[in-house]
Amino acid sequence: MKVAIGCDHAGLQLKNAVIEHLKQRGFEITDCGTYDSASCHYPVFAQKVAYEVTSGNAEKGILVCGTGVGMSMAANKIKGIRAACVSDCFSAEATRAHNDANIVCFGQRVVGEGLAFKIVDAFLDTKFEGGRHQLRIDMVNELDNK
Ligand code: RB5
Repeated sequence: MKVAIGCDHAGLQLKNAVIEHLKQRGFEITDCGTYDSASCHYPVFAQKVAYEVTSGNAEKGILVCGTGVGMSMAANKIKGIRAACVSDCFSAEATRAHNDANIVCFGQRVVGEGLAFKIVDAFLDTKFEGGRHQLRIDMVNELDNK
């Protein structure tokens, strides 16, 4: 599976650790930056990752900032993106199974490396259940037009 990943300066270390973890698991990673610790603006990287996903270049996206919140707010502005900000494995799994989330966001100031690895594993390994959840996803997608 191809995965796009991005961060701001506040998520750099955790992003790099997650990249190594996922490469070891055999995922193909597109690193959309940022690439150094200079202060930068999270919407720039949220947009880059979101476009990788909506264009089909990547199947899923991962965004890391200080909290994950700003990244999820920015990514969700892009039509077709369902970004979930999570800090636990249950939510990471459920947002795939029920919400068909295509981007997961979390914060380097919130979760440690070990938990972040478990979050991305749960997110990438869980399939959307469809069924009754598809109607709700259709309703969410309709909100793009409001
Ligand atoms: C940067 O200081 C911080 O505001 C940003 O990484 C993020 O947490 C915003 O939601």
